[in-house]
Amino acid sequence: MGEVAKIRIEGKDLELPTIVGTENEKAVDISALRAQTGYITIDEGFVNTGSTQSAICFLDGEQGILRYRGYPIEELCEKCDFVEVSYLLMYGELPNAQQLEHFRSSLRRHTMLHEDMRMFYNGFPRDAHPMAILSSVVGALSTFYQDSLDPKNPQEVEMSIFRLMAKLPTIAALSHKKSIGQPFMYPKNSLEYVENFLYMMFAVPSEDYQLDSDFVEALNLLFIVHADHEQNCSTSTVRMVGSSDANLFASISAGICALWGPLHGGANQACVEMLEAIKADGGNSKKYIDMAKDKKSGFRLMGFGHRVYKNYDPRATIIKRTCDKLLKKLKIKDPIFDIAQELEQAALSDPYFIERKLYPNVDFYSGIIYRAMGFPVEMFTVLFALGRLPGWIAHWREMQMSPSKKIARPRQIYNGPAKRSFIPLHERK
Ligand code: ACO
Repeated sequence: MGEVAKIRIEGKDLELPTIVGTENEKAVDISALRAQTGYITIDEGFVNTGSTQSAICFLDGEQGILRYRGYPIEELCEKCDFVEVSYLLMYGELPNAQQLEHFRSSLRRHTMLHEDMRMFYNGFPRDAHPMAILSSVVGALSTFYQDSLDPKNPQEVEMSIFRLMAKLPTIAALSHKKSIGQPFMYPKNSLEYVENFLYMMFAVPSEDYQLDSDFVEALNLLFIVHADHEQNCSTSTVRMVGSSDANLFASISAGICALWGPLHGGANQACVEMLEAIKADGGNSKKYIDMAKDKKSGFRLMGFGHRVYKNYDPRATIIKRTCDKLLKKLKIKDPIFDIAQELEQAALSDPYFIERKLYPNVDFYSGIIYRAMGFPVEMFTVLFALGRLPGWIAHWREMQMSPSKKIARPRQIYNGPAKRSFIPLHERK
């Protein structure tokens, strides 16, 4: 028997069991609390509340550790490509050669969009944000693939996973082509996953397209470091929507919407826009550090701070290294990279940031690499979504397979008016 938490409420004593995870994280199990005491707990923003037990991702925010299914992120970045890591996240183990080949070829088979779905793009305004297009088209997959919507049917789930993983890069690349008025490029299934996406994004029918192996390597790495991050806002959204037995496409479409916000995945776009603004303002980083410290300014340093990491985000370390390497190789002297480094140095030596344990997060340097590769800023959060997709699917699947699955339905404390008499319209002031 492990530790027991004891609480006393209204003269009643209650013992609550505790749970200890693989890495010694500890929780008090309050599932009996309301039934036995009438009390609930309140924890705005879920700062202290675990929503589930999960075997997919471990992160230690104090020590800056991130592991997928037990494997350190640094090692996966070095030894795997994104498709292999996706398999690991979704199915729990690294694939053997045969399993990997089967997975790759299943993804290859489903890359095209239904031609009617392609027509959707004619209806979107040219300046539509690609995240809005992404969530709409993913939601619409459930209108085209009604044969694979049952979350309780393993074959149907498997089919939706292949369709979604295979089609998301196509959906994303089409939204970019639409915004710049170029012809859509059909997927080329002789190419690997990341290569195919780069091809659909940047090739044009009138010219040969040469893939750059450094771009392929950098994008594989960026997708891997974004692939999962346990119960973050968008993943929790996917799980919450899926908890009602909504189909995979509907659940992921909701997750894409959650990711879009600037406090979450949208921060990569917001961060590059902030660095641009600092550059346009003469490159005075100190002014922006001071603004970020002044609560009245309403300004936050984008790409800094994290709900869980109170140390350097290990993903930021990996990305910064790649960023440096790619800019050197491309011989790009990007002034916003210099501003970012200056800002980082200034923030890391400032008591405000030190006391609050605010460090660069995954979004701080990723945008600079995306920009160097030629992605427009509106596509940055879409790239995050492409990377996060296997993590979302893994969590949705883990939840569907859990024997203890329940619809997610938080409680509240009502603090509106007490019961009162209705006032007829003619008597209202
Ligand atoms: N710039 C300046 N001050 C900050 C910043 C920042 N980026 N982030 C947090 N703080 C300050 C807060 O004002 C607060 O100060 P106080 O204690 O004096 O009131 C303190 O640090 C703690 O901040 P909270 O908002 O309570 O921390 P929380 O865990 O709720 O927020 C979040 C985390 C949303 C990521 C926050 O740090 C932030 O807004 N960062 C900028 C946006 C960003 O980069 N988001 C991407 C996150 S990573 C991802 O989703 C992929």
